[in-house]
Amino acid sequence: MKRKLSLWAACLVMCVSTTMAAVNIIPKPTSVIEHDGQFVFRKGFTIGYNNTSLEPAATYLQELLTRDTGLNFKTRLGKGKIHLCLVLPDDNDESYELVSNKKGVRITAHSYRGIINGIATLRQLLPPVVKVQYDVPAVTIKDSPNFHWRGLMLDPVRHFFSVEETKRLLDEMALYKLNKFHWHLSDNEGFRMEVKAYPGLTSDTVAWRRFNSHDRQCLDRASKENNPSMLIPWKFFKEVPGYGELYGGYYSQNEIRDVVQYAAVRGIDIIPEIDMPGHNGAACYCYKWLSCTQNGVEPLCLGRNSTIEFAEKVYDEVFQLFPYEYVSIGGDEVNRRRWSECSECKKRIESEGLKDVSELQAWFTKRMEKYFNAHGRRILGWDEILEGGLSKTATVHWWRGDHPDVTQKSTAMGNEVVLCPFTFLYFDYAQDDNTLRHIYDGDIVPVDLTAEQLKLIKGMQANIWCERIPTEARMEWMVFPRALALAEKAWTPRNKQNWDDFLPRLKAHLLRLEAMGIQYRPLQTKRP
Ligand code: ACM
Ligand code: ZN
Repeated sequence: MKRKLSLWAACLVMCVSTTMAAVNIIPKPTSVIEHDGQFVFRKGFTIGYNNTSLEPAATYLQELLTRDTGLNFKTRLGKGKIHLCLVLPDDNDESYELVSNKKGVRITAHSYRGIINGIATLRQLLPPVVKVQYDVPAVTIKDSPNFHWRGLMLDPVRHFFSVEETKRLLDEMALYKLNKFHWHLSDNEGFRMEVKAYPGLTSDTVAWRRFNSHDRQCLDRASKENNPSMLIPWKFFKEVPGYGELYGGYYSQNEIRDVVQYAAVRGIDIIPEIDMPGHNGAACYCYKWLSCTQNGVEPLCLGRNSTIEFAEKVYDEVFQLFPYEYVSIGGDEVNRRRWSECSECKKRIESEGLKDVSELQAWFTKRMEKYFNAHGRRILGWDEILEGGLSKTATVHWWRGDHPDVTQKSTAMGNEVVLCPFTFLYFDYAQDDNTLRHIYDGDIVPVDLTAEQLKLIKGMQANIWCERIPTEARMEWMVFPRALALAEKAWTPRNKQNWDDFLPRLKAHLLRLEAMGIQYRPLQTKRP
């Protein structure tokens, strides 16, 4: 009798654990209805799709499921146990519906991106760790995002990341429905995009460098903290005759096309940034004629037409490589004082009837905006582009959290804004559980905006500046788990965000991150 009872109890536990598999979705969906039962994955199942445009999504899901479950999935145009269903007209709406029951899983959406969002949810319904069987609970999920801009910015200039590392970050973003990857491709410390018109930009002594103070800080920490994730990876060193071992790298145009394609399959847009007219020391070092003093010191000299021609030719190649609406001109932290000491810049200020050097930057940004628009693109820049005047059609990245009026001012003028204030969303800043909660509970969207102004908030992104992030392992530590808080802030409406509800879901996700090999910061730990 005792034995029978314990068997019965074991059976009960099994039934409960199989019918009550936890639904822990981040970001929190609009609605989740749980049903009894589950769909069990079996070898050879087919992923069907109803429209040829979904083929890349089906193949992406097939690869993911095969990798995660070890089962062999097939894809086909037509019905499948897992069915991806595009409902026409395809209107770029990101919402989706996911219905699972014991017969199968169906994801329905009005766009490729909606299907991709449904796939992210399906990935999260699977058990986080290897089990005897792979199943997803029976659910009906209806979901759509609050903001269409949910992003991460990566800086591969201060420290370089390979194509493979970049792709892994894109994969991680896709799991959490982060859909904008802002790629900061140039700065003082290097130039990372191959430009056919200016091959010097990615030559051995421009895309590679001797160790700088940031590298030394990283190495100091690596040794003091016994922390290998702060070491500068050997794979990015190169022996350059006459210079010795230099550190760096760049992306060839073929590699960039490959990353763009990879991101597109995952529903992610890439926003390339070639920072101008400041933060451009590597270009000025390479082509000394770009700078006011002709000696290689940034910023770009805006008095010389040769600089404008350089900017246009570089962006011509950016436009060819990145087929997206938005391109960032950067525009932050320009040392404008140099222009006031430059005879060519002074001439430009006079001939264009400008008041001062701030207006000179604004003149450049507006001129470049016309160029972007003529190529079917929209311009975006860090919030300094407001100074000296801005056209209404430029979009502003609000990063200076200590200038809280930026969003108020920009939206009052009719400009769109992407929020990334350093007070919340600089993922290179030190983190602990308090900073995590600060992101989650914070009013990242300023509370003083009118309904009209709120419509101009495109969304939010976190920035991963990499002066002190030399490896992928360190990057993952800095980005996770706070990227999950960002994902929910950007996707789920503010009045549905609840820390007490988020925290247990987050804890469940740490298991998933662990299983994926992501070196996240465990809760209750601080630096390093
Ligand atoms: C920035 O952090 N300089 C945009
Ligand atoms: Zn000048």
